[in-house]
Amino acid sequence: MASTDSAAKAVDTSDVQSGLEGVIAFATEIAEPDRAGGALRYRGVDIEDLVGVVPFEQVWGLLVDGKFTPGLPPAEPHPLSVRSGDPRVDVQSALAMLAPEWGFEQLIDISDEEARDNLARSSVMALSFVAQSARGAGHPPIPQAEIDLASSIPERFLIRWRGEANPDHVKAIDAYWISAAEHGMNASTFTARVVTSTGSDLVSAVVAAIGALKGPLHGGAPGPVLDMLDAVAATGDAETWLLGELAAGRRIMGMGHRVYRVRDPRAAVLELAVQPLASPRLALARDVERAAAKILRERKPDRPLAANVEFYTAVLLDAVGLAREQFTPTFAVGRVAGWSAHVIEQRRTGRLIRPQSRYVGERPAA
Ligand code: COA
Repeated sequence: MASTDSAAKAVDTSDVQSGLEGVIAFATEIAEPDRAGGALRYRGVDIEDLVGVVPFEQVWGLLVDGKFTPGLPPAEPHPLSVRSGDPRVDVQSALAMLAPEWGFEQLIDISDEEARDNLARSSVMALSFVAQSARGAGHPPIPQAEIDLASSIPERFLIRWRGEANPDHVKAIDAYWISAAEHGMNASTFTARVVTSTGSDLVSAVVAAIGALKGPLHGGAPGPVLDMLDAVAATGDAETWLLGELAAGRRIMGMGHRVYRVRDPRAAVLELAVQPLASPRLALARDVERAAAKILRERKPDRPLAANVEFYTAVLLDAVGLAREQFTPTFAVGRVAGWSAHVIEQRRTGRLIRPQSRYVGERPAA
């Protein structure tokens, strides 16, 4: 019997696109990350023209419906019934349970309008679940009447979480969710489209996408970025600490991007959004970013590696007062906007996603 090694050597794998880098699998009208120019546009509108001008709930509308209004409605009263100890699992489980509870049918059986309305109800429910999770099981829920006094979705989130909403925090969360709402093709959005393409229900697409967002290479880096800032603060020497990480074979969290060859435009938007919050970590974060960019430039002169969205996400969410374990769920529920838009687009224009693999294992002896 041939060994796996020798079988692998015999097979030409030059057509295997590991990581699918450079593979264009969809035509999309939703978002355009500008690789070289360092810009991100939603349906042609630069995010820098949206942040502080159009509220997140209307940016949801722009992404999903192609127009600002009616946008995202307020969440229906619904308790978070799952408390697993992992807030990511809580939001996944609670969302998965909505499909049978609310009688969502498979995407293949419903109209575009029904799919869109179900997505709106679930998207905003996801935000409510994260707020309830952040509040913690031991604290009584905030009365609905108090939440209903809020005039925006980020304000509702903050009140549901801790009973009050500092206006600077409302603005910061609004800027954050707008920046995080959509980013063209990536691991989690691809996952949402794969599930949609099978005709499954839309909540399953969102739940699967959250699963793809847990890893540190996509979505899970803000917590480790904060750990890095703590570690650098403890040593007082960013350069030595960063060099130690690289020498140990580890990557610098919050640096580098598959698409951008310049600084991620969302890093600039978020850095700006943190400023009014008077974060004690902002100055340190800037120093660490500068040191990391310099070291990476020297090590990899041919591969620009600059700050990505998750670098200042960490500083912003920390300044607002969220615990580290809530960072990824908070990212995810902002990104539900983009996933929702892709679910609709995939339904309208897509085909069952079914790539191929090249077998390189053992074969029967000739
Ligand atoms: N720190 C150190 N080196 C890095 C790096 C980082 N943050 N990001 C990339 N590199 C290096 C890789 O080690 C690789 O070096 P090699 O060619 O010597 O092996 C080279 O740059 C190219 O990396 P590659 O893995 O091809 O990049 P990618 O496009 O797959 O990676 C990320 C993109 C985001 C996954 C990557 O930059 C990364 O891991 N960043 C840190 C985690 C992070 O911030 N995630 C959030 C992403 S929004």
